[in-house]
Amino acid sequence: MRIDIATLFPEMCEAVLSESIIGRARRKGSIEMYCHNIRDYTLDKQKRVDDYPYSGGHGMILQAQPIYLCCKAIEAQQQVKPHVAFLTAGGKTFTQQRARELAQLPSLTLVCGHYEGIDERVIEALADEEISIGDYVLTGGELAALVVADSVCRLCPGVLSSPEGYEEESHYSGLLEYPQYSRPEEWNGRRVPEILLSGHHANIAKWRHEQALERTRTRRPDLYEKYEEKSMAKIDK
Ligand code: ADE
Repeated sequence: MRIDIATLFPEMCEAVLSESIIGRARRKGSIEMYCHNIRDYTLDKQKRVDDYPYSGGHGMILQAQPIYLCCKAIEAQQQVKPHVAFLTAGGKTFTQQRARELAQLPSLTLVCGHYEGIDERVIEALADEEISIGDYVLTGGELAALVVADSVCRLCPGVLSSPEGYEEESHYSGLLEYPQYSRPEEWNGRRVPEILLSGHHANIAKWRHEQALERTRTRRPDLYEKYEEKSMAKIDK
């Protein structure tokens, strides 16, 4: 899969995406990722990319033209037409389910807004969707694009060393993950639950499922309700 990020701060994105699991996957060639500076595409002599909002309002607006040319340049580098997502606080909330769907795409372009907003016309012209990473406001779309890129990337073949790993983790099955423990058996007076030392795989699986259910019920009643509804529907079938 290929992911392109259009941003005013490519070094900020590059710094994050060069490290750890994603950095390794890029170097190995399991995924392709490129960061592009929107400012490189402005036709303004002073290299400006923003201007005042029509009819007043506070802050500056990112202009349509440099974003448009940046996205068209990204598209021209590829055989397939990329799926284009703008990161905005007003977009649809990102979920693990959406990450799984985006990971199936051959090419994804993430466009980061900055300042007080983006000229709506370039969103209308280019966006396949708008994504928000949560109900709070960031100073720009970069951190949101990095969140989306990271979560999508790790689902691509060859990125994680043990892909079966993510079938157990929070949100995969609709439940939060059960608690995990490593050595030593006792740390600061706290022991690893005895069941995990028993070697009885069926009992351990049952305990983990119960823990996952209880965590989800207490921490995320919204997810718990959905999970219960789905389980009931399965029993009814
Ligand atoms: N830009 C500003 N806030 C955002 C958010 N919550 N998600 C995505 N992009 C944003």
